[in-house]
Amino acid sequence: MTSPTSNPTSEPAANASPATVASGAPARTFSGIQPSGIVHLGNDLGAIRNYVRLQDEYEAIYCIVDYHALTSTHDGDVLRTRTREMAAGLLALGLDPDRCTLFVQSHRPEHTELAWLLMTVTPVSWLERTPTYKEKVAQQPDDVNHGLLTYPVLQAADIVIYKATNVPVGKDQAAHLELSREITRAFNRRYGDTFPEAQAVFTEAPVVLGTDGVRKMSKSVGNTIDILAEPDLIRRQVMSMVTDTLRIRRTDPGRPEVCNVCQLHRFFGDDYLEIQDGERTARTGCVDTKKLLADRIIRHYAPARERYLELMAHPAEIEGILETGADRLRPMAQATMDEVRAKMGLR
Ligand code: TYM
Repeated sequence: MTSPTSNPTSEPAANASPATVASGAPARTFSGIQPSGIVHLGNDLGAIRNYVRLQDEYEAIYCIVDYHALTSTHDGDVLRTRTREMAAGLLALGLDPDRCTLFVQSHRPEHTELAWLLMTVTPVSWLERTPTYKEKVAQQPDDVNHGLLTYPVLQAADIVIYKATNVPVGKDQAAHLELSREITRAFNRRYGDTFPEAQAVFTEAPVVLGTDGVRKMSKSVGNTIDILAEPDLIRRQVMSMVTDTLRIRRTDPGRPEVCNVCQLHRFFGDDYLEIQDGERTARTGCVDTKKLLADRIIRHYAPARERYLELMAHPAEIEGILETGADRLRPMAQATMDEVRAKMGLR
C-alpha cells in the first residue's frame, strides 16, 4: 500500500514490454480482471489504459476471471451479472474484439487443469506468504476457503497457458506476478523449458488511491470512483474525497503533492501545474478542485458510458463476443495442455 504522503501517480512506469521473447516467439500480452460489477478509476488508470494501448502493439488476450471471483462471490446470479457488466465496461473503454481476444476464464476450463498441475511445483509456503492472501484472510475471516490460498497459482496458469510475455497490471498485482514467475521457473526447472517468464507492464499510475486518500482504490474497501456510473454518483464520490488533511481553512496553503484530488488532475486535462499552483497558494479551495475533477471525469467517460449502456441493452452481443473469444483460444490452450501433459508423464 502507498503511504498517504507518497505521490500515487509519480512512480515511473516499469518494465518495458519486450517485442519478442528470447526464443524468437512473438510477444503476447495477457491480463485478467475480476468481475467485480463496476469498473473503477483505479482499474482504468492502473491497468485498462494499458490493455487498450497494448492491443495495437501485441497479440492481446484479456480475461474476465470468474473462477477467481468465486473465492469471494458465492451467488451465481450475481456473478453472471457482474461478468456481463465487466465485459461491457471493458468493451466500452476501448477493448476491440477485432484487435484483441476477450473471454471469460471459465469458458476455457483448461486454466483450472493447468492450475492443478502447477500446484504440484508450488511450495505451500510461497502461497502462505502472499500479501493478498493475508489481506483476504483479514477481510473475510469466516470464509478462508482454499481458493484464496491457491489463487495465485490459477493466476499463473492464466498467464502461462497462452505463453504470454507481458502482463499489464497495477502495482497491487506485482507480488502475484513475481510469484507467477517463480512458479514458471520451478516448472521449467523440473520439466524443461516450457513457459516464458512474463513481465509486468505498469502505467503512469500504478497505484491509484481511493476516495479516502489512504488506501488503494478498491471495491472491497468501498472507496471507488465508478467511472461508468451515472454522473450524480460520480460527483458524490469525487466530492467525498479526502484532500490534504492539514489544510483546515480555505485560506491555508495546500500540499498538492499529497492531495489525491490534485494528483488525479494529471490525467484529466493539461493544466495540472496550474491546479497545483492554485492549491499551493490557496488561490483555489479543495471544493473547487474537486468540482472541476468531477466535471472532467464525467465528461471524459461520457462516451464510454453511452457505449456501456448500449452494450448492456444488447446482452446477446456481449455473449457472442465472449464466446468467440473463448473459441479462438481453444487451440492455443489445448496445445499447451498437450505439451504439459506429455512432459509430466500424463500421456
Ligand atoms: P483486479 O480485478 O483486482 O484488478 C484488475 C486490474 O486493475 C488494477 N487495479 C489497480 N491499479 C491501480 N490502482 C488501483 N487502485 C487498482 N485497483 C485495481 C489491478 O492491478 C489489475 O491489473 N488477480 C487479478 C486478476 C487476474 C490476473 C490474472 C491479472 C487473474 N489472473 C492474470 C493478470 C494476469 C485481480 O484480482 O485484479
